[in-house]
Amino acid sequence: MNNKLYILFGSIAVSALMSSCVSRGNNPGWEYAPDMYYSKGYEAYNQGDSNTVNPYGMNMREPVAGTVAVGKLDYKYNLENTGEGYDASASLTAPVDATLEDGRGKYLYDVYCTPCHGANGANDGEVFKKVSTLKPAWKGYSDEYIKTLPEGKIYHTLTYGKNNMGSHASVLSPKDRWKVIKYVKFLSSQGTSSSEVAAADSTMATTK
Ligand code: HEC
Repeated sequence: MNNKLYILFGSIAVSALMSSCVSRGNNPGWEYAPDMYYSKGYEAYNQGDSNTVNPYGMNMREPVAGTVAVGKLDYKYNLENTGEGYDASASLTAPVDATLEDGRGKYLYDVYCTPCHGANGANDGEVFKKVSTLKPAWKGYSDEYIKTLPEGKIYHTLTYGKNNMGSHASVLSPKDRWKVIKYVKFLSSQGTSSSEVAAADSTMATTK
């Protein structure tokens, strides 16, 4: 009697154990060709080494050379970062809606340019004060050099940078670059006295 009970419970235990080992997904005997049931996830940007056709193991294709994203046409800039490109940029003109009135040019200037060029463009920002060897030859925006510098050349400098001044293309959209340029030219026309600039500044809206 006892022996029969052992055999009964023993066989229940063994069959429970065996059935728990058979998991549906991993057993090719149970599900023929599991790859057909469980599809592989495809990554747009990188599939490791398994995509040997496209660059960087990507599954998506690279855009055709010269492709411009919708709404980003003004990012297209054909001039090279060379002396010739800089000279040619002199003929570029600002879009008509790049004006001072909305105060955005001043706002962006205060954020990105004051550390070097100073609040009024007198080249007295904290960075220039600390490392005076970084300063350009011209004294400040009231200098004849900036007064007569074509806006297009400033655009070129903001886009690529120039010597000790880095590129600002990653922080200023093309439209914002032109708005900052308008503010540079405004400062240039005002001289560098802070009371003069403050009085003229107050006429600009404070919206950003
Ligand atoms: C890290 C310091 C630094 C910052 C920040 C900086 N500049 Fe400059 N900037 C310079 C230096 C240095 C030069 C002189 C480059 C040269 O001609 O060698 C210069 C040159 C210029 C010129 C003359 C460009 C030309 O074509 O000769 C303008 C205009 C100007 N900066 C405007 C700006 C504006 C606008 C910003 C903010 C968006 C800015 N800078 C931010 C350091 C800086």
